[in-house]
Amino acid sequence: MTDKQTLTIRDNRSGEEYEVEITDGSIRAADLGKIGKSDDDPGLSVYDPGFTNTASTRSAVTYIDGEKGILEYRGYPIEQLAESSTYLEVAYLLIHGELPTKEQHDQWVHEITFHTFVHENLKSQLQGFRYDAHPMGMLLSSVGALSTFYPEANKIKDPQVRHDQIVRMIAKMPTLGAWAFRHAQGKPYVYPDNDLSYTENFLSMLFRMSEPKYDPDPRLAKALEVLFILHADHEQNASTNAVRSVGSSQVDPYSAVTAGIAALYGPLHGGANEAVLKMLKRIKTKDNVPAFIEGVKNGEERLMGFGHRVYKNYDPRATIIKKACDDVFEVTGVNPLLEVAQELEKIALEDEYFVKRKLYPNVDFYSGLIYEALQFPPEMFTVLFAIPRTSGWLAQWLELVDDPEQKIARPKQIYTGARQLDFVPSSERWK
Ligand code: CMC
Repeated sequence: MTDKQTLTIRDNRSGEEYEVEITDGSIRAADLGKIGKSDDDPGLSVYDPGFTNTASTRSAVTYIDGEKGILEYRGYPIEQLAESSTYLEVAYLLIHGELPTKEQHDQWVHEITFHTFVHENLKSQLQGFRYDAHPMGMLLSSVGALSTFYPEANKIKDPQVRHDQIVRMIAKMPTLGAWAFRHAQGKPYVYPDNDLSYTENFLSMLFRMSEPKYDPDPRLAKALEVLFILHADHEQNASTNAVRSVGSSQVDPYSAVTAGIAALYGPLHGGANEAVLKMLKRIKTKDNVPAFIEGVKNGEERLMGFGHRVYKNYDPRATIIKKACDDVFEVTGVNPLLEVAQELEKIALEDEYFVKRKLYPNVDFYSGLIYEALQFPPEMFTVLFAIPRTSGWLAQWLELVDDPEQKIARPKQIYTGARQLDFVPSSERWK
């Protein structure tokens, strides 16, 4: 006896029936292609703009249960990782699939720490940007440029070459992000300090001035560590899909990750925390919250930082970030907008409009408040997302290049344009 699950489809155009196998709750789109296939008909296809119900891969990196509010990296709950791990340990977990032994951990941290410097020519490239260049534009072009410094990176079948580029990219992202930040301020770029931890070194490159050694506040370094862990991966989102799609052409990983950074740059993806901050500034005081909520319910605008395509329960990352707020504000002083955010959350969570639609705070609701308290301008918020997401992108890229089922990404289209027109030369059309 086999417990094979199948689906029977009857094509009402022909009356023919087809049996299609169901595996892991999915059918293969290629099986649908057999339906109605003939010399003149390519067979049935699936129309799914935005991939809202299409699995593009099998993956063992990140698990999400949106109904229950569960997020796990390689099976480990995000809450436990945020509480007890470090970003670099989580990056190792994502890339290698398991937690490191002490030796593996020390070797990994050593390698990443000693690849934090970037080629001086890349520094010159960054210096060539206009004073007001958006740091995401600077980041994506400099990561793209890295492929020219490491031309061997295109040997994507070679495990050692892959490892070297992964280490380089995770190591250099904070350097490039911090330099983009300093550039906007007209301040000298600060070289990495390899005595410091990953997040301490990032704070040093962001904020060090004339002091011979930067002394980062451990509470801020820890809060950044938590934020980095929360943003490290989120399965097949738009930027990860961009990395996989571009990576499927077998290009080098710098170019594939550049595509991910570009996708993250967009306001529908990495830019929502900036929108939350602008919204809170506009509401200004706790007293203005009820009127704002009424406006949202009347469809005048959305409550930014609320709702999620996948999470229909509390976004587990939002709970952790809310806690991190307290630690950061202990150092920086409370951001007055926190009161507005808390009032918004309180009212919205009791209001039928939000309850009925399962709208809860998402990761972006509180993160902008922390970033602002750390003196980041809103344009830097997405850079702070891209730096830790690099490990997730690379874990997904590795999975892609090792997956024998994957092919170059090449979706179908339903053509809706004109056909077989006769070209009329301009000499006749423009008479
Ligand atoms: N404020 C008010 N109403 C909302 C909101 C909101 N933030 N989000 C959804 N709704 C309503 C929406 O109007 C609709 O109502 P109705 O059924 O009466 O038409 C219903 O809830 C379902 O909305 P939807 O747009 O179909 O849901 P979606 O899954 O397509 O959208 C979303 C998800 C995140 C784009 C949306 O909730 C939203 O725009 N939120 C605000 C922006 C935001 O915070 N984005 C950050 C997402 S988390 C970042 C990440 O993980 O990458």
